[in-house]
Amino acid sequence: MKLIDVRAVAFCAAMLAVFSAGISSASQLDKSSLEQWKTDYVRPGLVPFPEDNPYTVEKADLGKKLFFDPRLSGSNAISCASCHNPAFSWGDGLAKGVGHGSRQLGRRTPTIWNLAWAELLMWDGRFETLEEQALGPMAADVEMAQDMSTIVGELSAIPGYRALFNIAFPDEGITIDTIAKAIATYERTVVTGIAPFDRWVAGDETAIPEEAKRGFALFNSKANCVACHSGWNFTDDSFHDIGLNDDDPGRAAELPGVEKMRHAFKTPTLRNIDLRAPFMHDGSLTDLAAVVRHYNAGGIQRPSLSDDMKPLGLTPAEESYLVAFMETLTSPEEPVSIPLMPR
Ligand code: HEC
Ligand code: HEC
Repeated sequence: MKLIDVRAVAFCAAMLAVFSAGISSASQLDKSSLEQWKTDYVRPGLVPFPEDNPYTVEKADLGKKLFFDPRLSGSNAISCASCHNPAFSWGDGLAKGVGHGSRQLGRRTPTIWNLAWAELLMWDGRFETLEEQALGPMAADVEMAQDMSTIVGELSAIPGYRALFNIAFPDEGITIDTIAKAIATYERTVVTGIAPFDRWVAGDETAIPEEAKRGFALFNSKANCVACHSGWNFTDDSFHDIGLNDDDPGRAAELPGVEKMRHAFKTPTLRNIDLRAPFMHDGSLTDLAAVVRHYNAGGIQRPSLSDDMKPLGLTPAEESYLVAFMETLTSPEEPVSIPLMPR
């Protein structure tokens, strides 16, 4: 009996698809498509660490202290966590970051969730590893404005750090390299927890509301979000112009001459996304409803616009289902303890 039901629904959906190019308007959800799509979003069991910087508890603990320590900045007043603040889902809640001397940065502060899986870093992909990235903001005048020739000396003058580095890096002690390795190791431990969506994927039908299931179906079909926000972390780790009204060159700064990289930015994760408004590299969209409206309209038509960006023809109800779905990607809040600073 069950099997017949499923087939009937699938048939009905297929018929509707002919008219509406999507199963979303079917009054019943196509269960077999849902089950098929779910398999693409299963969480990985282990966090990957690179061979040249394997995980140790000592390194991660030291990296956490460094991440929260304002003494890494030129003014001794700004830490990584000033901008990547766990209370704002590891962002800062601002449209554009604010750095050294209260100067505004050109782009919004991205979250550091789930970067252990990231392929390239920054909105424009200009760094390849977390180790390489960690030194960037310390040295950047607009961010932490640290003189990199003095940072090793400054940390070495703090006995607590000398001890912690000697334990975490017995043969190396405090160097630019070990500072970066410790911070990167800590960052890789910042992983989003189990969200209602994950419980649904694992088989608990009651874990998310019906509207969210419809939103998930749209996400994978008519709305085509999956073209870029794919896999358990909802990103293809690639760069696209989604047609926002901003003249930032994006990835074209790294790959000049590649037409499709103009105004192209890294696809962000959608994990815990409803905690991180305002959205986009320029913070220009204030809530998830505005994001969905943007995609529904299709973005600014220009040569660099991604081929996967088209007006979607979503009804207001369908727009709200997509928002309801994204809200199920938020894991229950786990308090982050602030480490005591070494003295
Ligand atoms: C003044 C605010 C500010 C401070 C301080 C800061 N960041 Fe950032 N961070 C940003 C902004 C803004 C970007 C995006 C810049 C861009 O793409 O051009 C960014 C990007 C990143 C990224 C890339 C994320 C991704 O998804 O690709 C990582 C990782 C990161 N920061 C880690 C750190 C670490 C580690 C520190 C401390 C050593 C730090 N940040 C200090 C604002 C800040
Ligand atoms: C062509 C690839 C592509 C498609 C299709 C796409 N996205 Fe995106 N998405 C991106 C990129 C790239 C960004 C960042 C753009 C920027 O900041 O300039 C982004 C940003 C977002 C953000 C904001 C994330 C943040 O941290 O600021 C949300 C939410 C989002 N997308 C949801 C969706 C939904 C829902 C759909 C389907 C209706 C969708 N996306 C379709 C590539 C895509």
